Amino acid sequence: MGAGIAEVLARGGLAVVGIEIDAAALERGRGHLESSTGRAVKRGKLTEEARAEILGRVVLSTDFADLGDCDLVVEAVPERLDLKRKVFAELDRVCRDDAVLATNTSSLSVTEIAGTTGRPTKVVGVHFFNPAPVMRLVEVIGTVLTEPAAVRRVAELVRGLGKTPVTIGDRAGFVANRLLFGYLNQAAAMLESGHATRDDIDTAMTAGAGLPMGPFTLMDLIGLDTCLGVLEAVYAESRDRRHAPSPVLSELVRAGLLGRKTGRGFYSYGAEAGADAE
Ligand code: 3HC
Repeated sequence: MGAGIAEVLARGGLAVVGIEIDAAALERGRGHLESSTGRAVKRGKLTEEARAEILGRVVLSTDFADLGDCDLVVEAVPERLDLKRKVFAELDRVCRDDAVLATNTSSLSVTEIAGTTGRPTKVVGVHFFNPAPVMRLVEVIGTVLTEPAAVRRVAELVRGLGKTPVTIGDRAGFVANRLLFGYLNQAAAMLESGHATRDDIDTAMTAGAGLPMGPFTLMDLIGLDTCLGVLEAVYAESRDRRHAPSPVLSELVRAGLLGRKTGRGFYSYGAEAGADAE
């Protein structure tokens, strides 16, 4: 998601500093940016000159200190509260006092993340959808501590990027994931009960309900670890059994089969395509 968000910001004309954990992650991030913008050139959606300008706006680094002059920081590290809290403590240390610190969390508490900083009034959630360059919605989340001006500033910035912001409160799953994951989890439960096959469920929802992707293709795109994390967080808050993670999802995550990013999830991809998960 980090590379996708960096692309969105750079396409919007902003100078972007992308921080990665190490040199290998930095190269992967650069690769994502280059292939995504390269695909847009091939499809005639972007000129080579515009692509060069976009890539020229992004500086990649492994040093948090390079964020010192930024107005807004969007964190997109893995969905672990301890990790996010560590990152926010560091951001609070290196960023300007007036900088807004945003988390792209899918389901963790923005309030708890904000509590690590000495500026909870300037901490918001800014939740992009996958793939970030394509999906129009961005949820902008204010906590009870966030100053309304910070929420407004971020919502305006999001609109300026050509995206559609919705501003909401800090509840697990926010709006879209809270609704979407009840459905995705039911699809996994349906597969598990033998009621229908993976392919038939996906086909029913694309050809019948007109969705761009069936639930298993979509979960593989999102990442099964992220799906499990969203369900666990929403279930812990709502106690609604529709969000109790389906065992098949937990099993795939335990096996390290996380979807497209690992080459195999509900489906297999690339070199793994010979050994399908079903
Ligand atoms: N990065 C950048 N651009 C991409 C992309 C990617 N990974 N994948 C596709 N695109 C672009 C293509 O370049 C193309 O752009 P163009 O129209 O400007 O030429 C456009 O998207 C359509 O791509 P394709 O024609 O190749 O493929 P599809 O028409 O099948 O669309 C899709 C692909 C946009 C991913 C579509 O299948 C879709 O909308 N799927 C549903 C995605 C969804 O629901 N996302 C939300 C998940 S929930 C979430 O993210 C929340 C989180 O917290 C878990």
